[in-house]
Amino acid sequence: MINEDHKKYSVEEFVAKFKLEPCVAELLKFIEKDNEMIKDLLINKYLQIPLSSKEEEDIREYFINNSVFSAATLANPATSVVTEFLYDPKASSPIDKYFFASKGGKAIHSRLIRVEENLHSLIEECLKNNKKVLVANLGGGLGRDIINVFAKYYKDNDSIKALNLDKDKNASKRGQRMAEAKGVLNKIDYVEGSFTRFKPKEKFDIILLVGVLCSLPPETCVWILNKIKPMLNKEGFIMASNATPQMLKEDPFTYMIMNIMGWSLIFKNEDELRAIFAKSGLKWQRSFTDDYGFHRMAIGTKNKSLFNHF
Ligand SMILES: C[S@@+](CC[C@H](N)C(=O)[O-])C[C@H]1O[C@@H](n2cnc3c(N)ncnc32)[C@H](O)[C@@H]1O
Repeated sequence: MINEDHKKYSVEEFVAKFKLEPCVAELLKFIEKDNEMIKDLLINKYLQIPLSSKEEEDIREYFINNSVFSAATLANPATSVVTEFLYDPKASSPIDKYFFASKGGKAIHSRLIRVEENLHSLIEECLKNNKKVLVANLGGGLGRDIINVFAKYYKDNDSIKALNLDKDKNASKRGQRMAEAKGVLNKIDYVEGSFTRFKPKEKFDIILLVGVLCSLPPETCVWILNKIKPMLNKEGFIMASNATPQMLKEDPFTYMIMNIMGWSLIFKNEDELRAIFAKSGLKWQRSFTDDYGFHRMAIGTKNKSLFNHF
């Protein structure tokens, strides 16, 4: 417990004592005016004072009723609706605005930008040796990253194509509309299904796996990467992201709220990601992060070991 003296904090004292971001003060001030009990419960939760299940449910209900983002997260924490919400912030409720303003929210947006930059450089690298480049976006959601890169650099290049696979039919439908609006639908094949059962006709030069492994334990990540590895061309690249412990360190308040909404992550540092790649028979090439260091994207290739049968 980090509140052993059982002090009741004002919003100002709480934010100052725990060095929280100004947006946390704004959020708590807003909630205080509307429902003081919820503000107190949130502070108590942060202070690790045990809450009853009724009190936890009161917080949940308050957030669902006042924030589209929270309601979407509770309905399905791994849905692309949640990430899309942060990629293109439009909602106007004060609580939704908090998520856009938080470091955790901004890091998701920054991840998208860095993934797009690195996808572009990987495509250019592949183009040095190949006439054609085929990208797979697994658990790709709407495929916003490939849509943006294709629309920006390869609209008139018929050698670059992608397959966007997601088990969520609505994500695929929304993605197709987005790709059409940006003039690249002819370059992206939208497929509905699970990547664990996917048997592609062709192998891929680049595989993206962004926002998929974060909630999974290392053994499951290894299992998934082992399923995906045979889909990769001999010289192909895989880019896989995971949330880092930095998120918990630098934005614990947002993570606490998201956790109440059922969003729970298994943070992995670089060494843990390297170990996952090694156990999956992938050769670590390099990695990069978003601007906040909250997500690490690892890039690997197939190991050229004698025991690699794929
Ligand atoms: C957090 S979203 C990330 C979407 C996108 N990659 C991005 O970076 O914005 C995770 C996506 O993975 C999809 N997904 C999770 N498990 C899957 C599976 N086994 N097969 C296909 N899609 C899956 C979900 O439906 C969801 O759209």
